[in-house]
Amino acid sequence: MEILNRENKELIKVFEIKNVNLSYGEKHVLKDISLDIYKNKVTAFIGPSGCGKSTLLRCLNRMNDLISTCKVTGDFKYNNQDIMNMNVVDLRTRVGMVFQNPNPFPMSIYDNVAYGPRCSGIKNKAKLDEIVIDSLKKASLYDEIKDRLKDNALGLSGGQQQRLCIARAIAMKPDVILMDEPTSALDPIATLKIEELIQELKNDYTIVIVTHNMQQATRVSDYTAFFLLGEVIEYDQTHELFSNPKKKKTEDYITGRFG
Ligand SMILES: Nc1ncnc2c1ncn2[C@@H]1O[C@H](COP(=O)(O)OP(=O)(O)OP(=O)(O)O)[C@@H](O)[C@H]1O
Ligand SMILES: [Mg+2]
Repeated sequence: MEILNRENKELIKVFEIKNVNLSYGEKHVLKDISLDIYKNKVTAFIGPSGCGKSTLLRCLNRMNDLISTCKVTGDFKYNNQDIMNMNVVDLRTRVGMVFQNPNPFPMSIYDNVAYGPRCSGIKNKAKLDEIVIDSLKKASLYDEIKDRLKDNALGLSGGQQQRLCIARAIAMKPDVILMDEPTSALDPIATLKIEELIQELKNDYTIVIVTHNMQQATRVSDYTAFFLLGEVIEYDQTHELFSNPKKKKTEDYITGRFG
């Protein structure tokens, strides 16, 4: 689905998704999906429960590889490379993910953020310190916890844990951060913090966020794709999709007539 570029600036495609179909066993879950995702933008996936938002998001860093019944056809390109032929560890280093429920590892705050860099072979203490502090700062968490780096991460509040998970993703120096309903377990204040953070992060990263919350999509995203029963019904600049939807189904959904 091509987007009319009203920005007067060239949009760089990070992902190109073409004619993608996906089934879990006999169940056809994604139906001929084509859309592009643009660099340094926030793209939101919205739509009713079960319409395939998380499934498409997981395709972008091949998390569906882990599901044996999952069959995918069509093309996924990441920076012009065929995702299916990429080394999956490299792909997931470039394309990080933050999940619905904050899932810090049961270890210190410091070790959570240092975990990925250590796994990729960085052992130098000064270098690790630099990555950990820088990532915590980028995730807007450092000032709150700088005296607690050795404390167990499970002692943080839910909102802090989610920002820690974002710091953990950032520590791998990704290009893209995928977020699957990152604020659905958080209170309104913690949610606002994450939304502000997303706005800052898009200067350095490309972000794709699944959200059930349409206000959140309008607050944080530049582009929105509306999913219904495995199809992308409409994809456009967020402002345009919400203020001037071109399809009746989109209009019905955003005005709360179903879903
Ligand atoms: N591992 C799986 N095995 C079989 N079916 C699955 C699997 N994961 C998801 N599904 C099915 O695929 C469809 C799409 O699921 P998906 O999780 O992508 O929806 P979603 O849009 O993210 O919904 P929600 O808003 O509730 O998170 C649903 O019908 C779901 O039951
Ligand atoms: Mg989901």
